[in-house]
Amino acid sequence: MTPRPLIIKFHHLLYIPAPSGGWLLMIPIAKPSLGKEEISAVAKVLRSGSLVQGEKAQEFEKRFASFIGTKHAIACSNGTAALQVGLEALGIREGDEVVTTPFTFIASSNCILYNRAKPVFADIDARTFNIDPAGIEALLTPQTRAVLVVHLYGQPCDLRPVMDICRDRGLLLIEDCAQAHGAEYRGRKAGSFGDLSAFSFYATKNMTTGEGGMMMTGDDAVAEKARMIINQGQEGRYEHVVLGYNYRLTEMQAAIGSVQLRKLAAMNSKRERNAGFLTRKLSGLGWLETPYAPKGVKPVWHQYTIKVDATIRDRLFEHLNSKGVGARIYYPKPVHLQPLYRSLGYEEGICPVAEFVSRQVISLPVHPALGNGDLRRIVAAVESFRAGS
Ligand SMILES: Cc1ncc(COP(=O)(O)O)c(C=O)c1O
Repeated sequence: MTPRPLIIKFHHLLYIPAPSGGWLLMIPIAKPSLGKEEISAVAKVLRSGSLVQGEKAQEFEKRFASFIGTKHAIACSNGTAALQVGLEALGIREGDEVVTTPFTFIASSNCILYNRAKPVFADIDARTFNIDPAGIEALLTPQTRAVLVVHLYGQPCDLRPVMDICRDRGLLLIEDCAQAHGAEYRGRKAGSFGDLSAFSFYATKNMTTGEGGMMMTGDDAVAEKARMIINQGQEGRYEHVVLGYNYRLTEMQAAIGSVQLRKLAAMNSKRERNAGFLTRKLSGLGWLETPYAPKGVKPVWHQYTIKVDATIRDRLFEHLNSKGVGARIYYPKPVHLQPLYRSLGYEEGICPVAEFVSRQVISLPVHPALGNGDLRRIVAAVESFRAGS
């Protein structure tokens, strides 16, 4: 007899064998919330025949700029491009150093390398998972040009002290908001504080265009340069003044983006409700730490990330997945320990908190498509880990 597979895939849905026989649908870690409005917005664009560089991208940019509260928004092909071009438009170049966090997705730091500058890693705060402002000053040198912060898991970092350092030392502030659409710090939207900020609209993000990104800045010259770089370095038609790229967003993507932006507040409040439910049920368990949001910070729950003892984290991960809960580890290795960065000379021990925390974290599904039954299943799966161990 052929053994039953451990997992089957059907139309992007994952199933695992149920204990009672049959199949159990896996609760995914992320699920885009797309509906009729997005479909009809795309259909309209397709019927119009205007697929690129038209009014939909402009409309999306305007709406996003007014939502975040910045003067300029420049739509581009993805969040990585937004960061890469943003740094270039700010004038970051070879010989410069940029202080940043190692506990993030690789793109936050690769954008510094793309510009042939040097990432300098500041350690994180173990409770918020974000850059610890107290560690920044000691890393500044005459070559430091900027501090690049990341609002990880949808929670703004402690911006006030970072802004003070940037002001006092004449440094640029860059915000990686790829996971923080609509998040707030002291009543203002993340993305409105930096000299430049970048958003991602990748499929798993709080709002999506499939792939997509947005650069935000209040500086006219930076905006103009960034717009030129994402469009082949053109000043006028076929007048190429700098080395540019094709990093444009399509009209189909922009049309989806405007619809998603309208739905963002509702999607984020579902995430908040789901996070609230998980915290109420899990905070009493004693063997795990639920997420911590300091006063003055309004997270948008891109991820709901708990911490457990490093010795049980991987077993908990296996257990949850075997129960049909698609838990994930973001991120199992800080950036400075990635093989690429090791090959550049970064060493273990430079950011001990990030290194330790990367062995403790585990993210549970919190996306807006979760129903009450899903939430109860997630809690039961976590509870049953300790009961069974
Ligand atoms: C923190 C962070 N920065 C940058 C990016 C890059 O965005 P994109 O995937 O749209 O290129 C991501 C996306 O996953 C991210 O999570």
